[in-house]
Parts: sequence; structure tokens; C-alpha cells
Amino acid sequence: MSASTFPAGFLWGGALAANQSEGGYLEGGKGLATVDMLPLGPERLPVKLGQQKRFTLRDDEFYPSHQAIDFYHRYKEDIALMAEMGFRVFRTSIAWSRLFPQGDELSPNAQGIAFYRDLFTECRRHGIEPLVTLCHFDVPMHLVIEYGSWRSRKMVDFFTHYARTCFTAFDGLVKYWLTFNEINILLHSPFSGAGLVFAEGENVEQVKYQATHHELIASALATKIAHEVNPANQVGCMLAGGNFYPWSCKPEDVWAALEKDRENLFFIDVQARGAYPAWTARLFREKGIQVAMEEGDDAILRHTVDFVSFSYYASRCASAEMNEQNSSAANVVKSLANPHVSRSEWGWGIDPLGLRITMNMMYDRYQKPLFLVENGLGARDEPDANGAINDDYRISYLREHILAMGEAIADGIPVIGYTTWGCIDLVAASTGEMSKRYGLVYVDRDDQGKGSLARSRKKSFWWYKKVIASNGADLD
Ligand code: BG6
Repeated sequence: MSASTFPAGFLWGGALAANQSEGGYLEGGKGLATVDMLPLGPERLPVKLGQQKRFTLRDDEFYPSHQAIDFYHRYKEDIALMAEMGFRVFRTSIAWSRLFPQGDELSPNAQGIAFYRDLFTECRRHGIEPLVTLCHFDVPMHLVIEYGSWRSRKMVDFFTHYARTCFTAFDGLVKYWLTFNEINILLHSPFSGAGLVFAEGENVEQVKYQATHHELIASALATKIAHEVNPANQVGCMLAGGNFYPWSCKPEDVWAALEKDRENLFFIDVQARGAYPAWTARLFREKGIQVAMEEGDDAILRHTVDFVSFSYYASRCASAEMNEQNSSAANVVKSLANPHVSRSEWGWGIDPLGLRITMNMMYDRYQKPLFLVENGLGARDEPDANGAINDDYRISYLREHILAMGEAIADGIPVIGYTTWGCIDLVAASTGEMSKRYGLVYVDRDDQGKGSLARSRKKSFWWYKKVIASNGADLD
């Protein structure tokens, strides 16, 4: 690959989310959010899936998001580390309940606005472009308890009011916006994805697709508002990406993989093309789903995004015989274990070519610029006798994926940038662990929340600095 594979001005950087890094969960007037209710331990999963209702905190549980890595107080130090690596872009999210503690207030919390103004100003001071997600797995708990979260159409008003507040308050500081992080995760992890909990015997699919419709309407309206507030704003959708491979060339397996891909891509089909795909009519009929729509919704959905962003950790695999027993949700979305790819310690497949395949499929389907806003390896890091972390495994993962992204660019795909996930160690979304680390910067904190929170540079820090300085040409 030549030095010119990555275009001039390519946005290299890293990504965090408010709920996994900030902490300060009730500071500065912030309200409780869904993610604050997710404990560490065996009950985390049923709560995340909406099977176990958790509307109040318990004294006997540990909640990793409450302090996280204390980014709320340490962001200046952290942004300086990113600047040292040469970051051109930094992705984070705004905690909705920091701006609207309950979610249905008319006026925002001034302390929340001040915090994010300071954060984005600090990025700009270092020449770093903020890339901001409006909703990364957090909904104010009051909206869950009072309105049933995204089941209710009222959420469209609350969200668009919040979005307009952000576009106005941070105008001139933020240009790149994402509406919902990994919007398709609503189907796979409904409480953490969208604040949904279910009553026994309820048609879960009905609830999920109704909530989906509300999010899609809210996303399209937010896109419209962003463009009205400032035509220079660039708004993206965000997919938990990774194509499904058919287990074999048996036609039934190929069909199963196509259906699984459609389930996830449905969201992006609407956000990037502006209408429900034709096949949804049959799907809804067969699942007994009736999505309530209002007059004018079709026109609203035609406000499509400017670019398509996505996360990529692994490809997936499906067969006609796939079931609860032979599949696993190691990577949140259920998949068969592909024997042709290796796996991380947490069972997530490692498949760089799958990234090129996914990017080509997405560009063929949407013809909008792509932005790879999450990619990385969750691994255990052990400091050596001198305290150094020689994370060659992470360097190798990132190198292979950057090479695959370069190939996709050489295939002719316009790509805006790349933000590696968890550029600083943070709380894992799936398990709540700190020991599942993604960072180029190490944070001294363990799964139970003990540690000094001190930051230190890993070997990958120096490697990534070189990658950025050479615009992706030097990956050694
Ligand atoms: C994505 C999320 O699903 O994957 C992040 O957008 C998450 O919030 C990341 O942290 C990695 O998953 P995990 O469970 O290893 O943290």
C-alpha cells in the first residue's frame, strides 16, 4: 500500500462514550440514566436485556459507571494525551441526563452545558475536531419510569428538544454529530440500547419495532434541525457493524445470513435512504407487528444522514440451523463461532478482511461517505516489572484493521476517518469490567473500582502516534 492510501485530512483519532468514562454520575446536576442502573456481575445481563426491571439502585451492588475513569474531572489531562498522539478527531457522547436530568424539562441544566462547552473548547485548543454522539446507550431514568422510554412517541419531542439544545449551545465547536450509537443494538439489548423493559407475555418484537420507529423519526428530525441550525453540520447514523457470513454455500444458509444482515441494516436503510425497505411489510405481518405511524412520518424520514458511521469489531456467521444452543452473543449480536477466524479472550472474532467486506457492502448499499468510529481489541493488560505495558497484541489487531480499511479506501470508498475504541481504558459496556481494556492509555483501576486512576502510556500509544504522523503509511 502506498503512502497516499489515506487521503490528506483523514481524521485519525479515538473514541469514548460519556457513560463509560465520565463518572460523576450525580455531579453538576446530572440525573440518573439507564446505564447507571447496570451493576457489575451476573445480574447485569438480565437488566441490560430488559428482562429484569432495575428502577432503583441497590446498596449491595457495584455500578461501574458511577465513577468510571473520572473523565468528568480529568478530561484536560486526557485530551492532552490524545493531542500528544496527534489526534485530529475525538469522539465522545453527551450524557443526555447531564443536560436534562429528568429528560422532560424545558430548560437545560446550565452546569451540563458549561461542562461540554469546556470539553469541546479544550479539544479545539489542541486542534482536535470533536465528533459527538447525542445518545450512546443512555436515557434519563425519569423518561423510562414515566413514559416507558422509546415506547412512547413523546420521546421524539424530548429527544429533538435535547438535540436542538446541543446544536445551538455547541454551534461553532462541534460540526460532526451522530444521533444514536449502534442504533441496531435496540433489538439485541433493549434496556441498555433504548431503555425498554418488558411485561410478561408482551409481544416484545412489537415493542421493539415501535420504539425503533420513534428513534428513526427522532433521528431524522434531529438531522433536519442540525442542518437548519448550521448548514455546515454533518450528521451520521451509527451501526453496530459486521457482516454475516453464511455458514456454508447451502442456499438456506445464504438466505439466513441475508436475513440477519437485513435485521441490522434495516436501521441504516431508513436513515441513509429515507424509507422503510420493502421487505419489512412481510416481516411485520409475520411477527404480528403493527407499527403506529403518524401522517407526515414518511416525509420526515426522507431527511437522510450525511454520512454512515459504524463500529467494527468482528464479522458474524449464520446458518439455517442456528439456535439458542449453537450461537452466542459474545459480540452482542448472536452469531455462530466461525472456525476460520481467531478469537479474543472474550470470544469476539478477529477478522480484518471482514472489515473490508463490510465497508464494501455498506458503500455499495448507501453510496454515502463512511466513518469507522469504533474498532479495537478488548484485552487484559499486565504491566511488566518496570510498569510498562507492551501490548503488541493490540498493535497487531489495529495494524491489520487499518490495513483492511486502507484496502477499502483503495477500492474507491470515501472514508472520513477512524476513531479507535476506548483510546483510554474505560468500563466495558457488555460486562462492566475494567479489565477488558481497549486503550492506548492505561488507567489504574480494577473491576471493583479500586486504583489510583493514574494514566500511563502503553506501547500502542507510541505506535499510534507514528501511524497518525505518517497518515497511515508507517504501520510497523
Ligand atoms: C460497542 C459500543 O458496542 O462496543 C461501546 O458502542 C462498547 O459502548 C464497545 O464499549 C465494546 O464493547 P465492550 O462490551 O467490550 O465494551
